[in-house]
Amino acid sequence: MRVRKKRHGSERLAALSDLIYTIPAEGGRKDPKTEFANDSEVIMEVGCGKGDFIRELSMREPSKNFLAVERIGDVALVAMEKYAVSRNLGRLGYNGGWMDENGILHPTGEKYEISPEKRGNVRFVIGDAADIVASLPDGSLSGIIANFSDPWTRKNKYAKRRLTTPQFLGEYMRVLADGASFSFKTDDEELFDYTLEMLGEAGYQITFKTRDLHSSERAGNNIITEYERNFMEKGVSIKMLEAVPQKEKR
Ligand SMILES: C[S@@+](CC[C@H](N)C(=O)[O-])C[C@H]1O[C@@H](n2cnc3c(N)ncnc32)[C@H](O)[C@@H]1O
Repeated sequence: MRVRKKRHGSERLAALSDLIYTIPAEGGRKDPKTEFANDSEVIMEVGCGKGDFIRELSMREPSKNFLAVERIGDVALVAMEKYAVSRNLGRLGYNGGWMDENGILHPTGEKYEISPEKRGNVRFVIGDAADIVASLPDGSLSGIIANFSDPWTRKNKYAKRRLTTPQFLGEYMRVLADGASFSFKTDDEELFDYTLEMLGEAGYQITFKTRDLHSSERAGNNIITEYERNFMEKGVSIKMLEAVPQKEKR
């Protein structure tokens, strides 16, 4: 994803740092529930982009908690600011300061203290999906979602960066609770076929699959992501699958 560098990017991140989930230092593990105001189940989206999907899902599912993972800081910043606005926590103010919901301007670089209750049910992870997944305890997530992750198709030497490599799928299986599912959407036929094959080899059972999501029975409930909207406008059909790890068979 190409992103124009944001003015006052690091100060704007600092202002909303109460919404950021910190990955423990290398080798450390942290139960993600400890970051939320309640101990409800936690679902993780990897590669959340500007966060339209997670904002909508977290509103639809207020009793669940969500981790939104994005490795590009300026992209995560957009997602965080849109989320903060949607939760009535204020808006971006003058020179990168944050204007809180009471109209008080927190000057550039100053943290806006947000109580755990007001933070809502999403926390943003700015970093690589591999690092957050490695830091999670076994069985600590009730779902993992990857929407329109980078396909790395024409650059085969980069295929190991895909979010559905055997390494990732093995780690997802470790951190998913029993019966929890991995959900995946893409425009890319090659990435879809690759992912289906890797899931089979990794011991997942495919519980839902379509090569034309918008004509399927899931169309009505589907949350359209930023990339999905772009592909729809170009007439590209969207592929989707859900898969559940078959842990006992391994
Ligand atoms: C093609 S965009 C899709 C964004 C959004 N999910 C959507 O559907 O509109 C993929 C996003 O995943 C992020 N991403 C790719 N690999 C990642 C990784 N290993 N860890 C965290 N984020 C990653 C990219 O930075 C990019 O913002």
